[in-house]
Amino acid sequence: MILKDQLNIENLPKHIAIIMDGNGRWAKQKGKLRVFGHENGTKSVREITEASAELGIENLTLYAFSTENWKRPKVEVQTLMRLLISSLKKEINTLQENNIKLNAIGNLEDLPKKVQRELMDVIEQTKNNSRMTLTLALSYGSRDELLNTIKQISTKVKNNIISPEKIDESVINEHLYTRNLPDVDLLIRTSGEQRISNFLLWQIAYAELFFTNILWPDFTKNNLYEAILCYQKRERRFGKTSEQLK
Ligand code: FPP
Repeated sequence: MILKDQLNIENLPKHIAIIMDGNGRWAKQKGKLRVFGHENGTKSVREITEASAELGIENLTLYAFSTENWKRPKVEVQTLMRLLISSLKKEINTLQENNIKLNAIGNLEDLPKKVQRELMDVIEQTKNNSRMTLTLALSYGSRDELLNTIKQISTKVKNNIISPEKIDESVINEHLYTRNLPDVDLLIRTSGEQRISNFLLWQIAYAELFFTNILWPDFTKNNLYEAILCYQKRERRFGKTSEQLK
């Protein structure tokens, strides 16, 4: 049976987050420059976004550029920024046709002005779309996000806007970049690395983790279905016992 037909549509993850890794190694294996890997990585972004929307996934979050990625060679950073601009320009119609809302999280003011303008333009144009929210994590780092949250809440405490006793998980959630998104249900990382790399540390507290050796430019719809199938076989206990869930 084809993989897609094996999926239980009643038990889809509401929020999938992906660490898209392995573009550089994919290019190297082919004797090409890293840039070639990133270019082909954008094809997987398109395929996985479409497949997720088609299935009925409500939230897809992609780690496109980390706070640490600024340390890469200048030419690679420039290429990633250029690819971002060209993808946004190219995909605006696909986002509209598929009723997908674009969202971005991270230190967006660190991005080149041209990227910020393009991003804000697409976010504005797609803001009323409701089938799926596609969130791009750009200049994103989870520790940076948590620091920013702590600073905002402390300022509110100092100005008597909130009392320390009132700080609970929902207050923290409201101050994160992901304030409008639910917790992550399924976190996928490609390329064989098994680490989180400063991605959504708070939001993945109860996420199911799926690691695959496939390099991001080779990651297809079927690999996504495989990850979701694996997720659907897991028992999510949220701290309870197996018996309590029955
Ligand atoms: C990781 O591969 C990938 C990135 C740091 C960037 C991901 C970017 C894209 C897929 C293209 C642009 C994105 C959008 C949303 C249009 P790596 O370079 O770390 O690979 P390596 O570990 O093999 O060197």
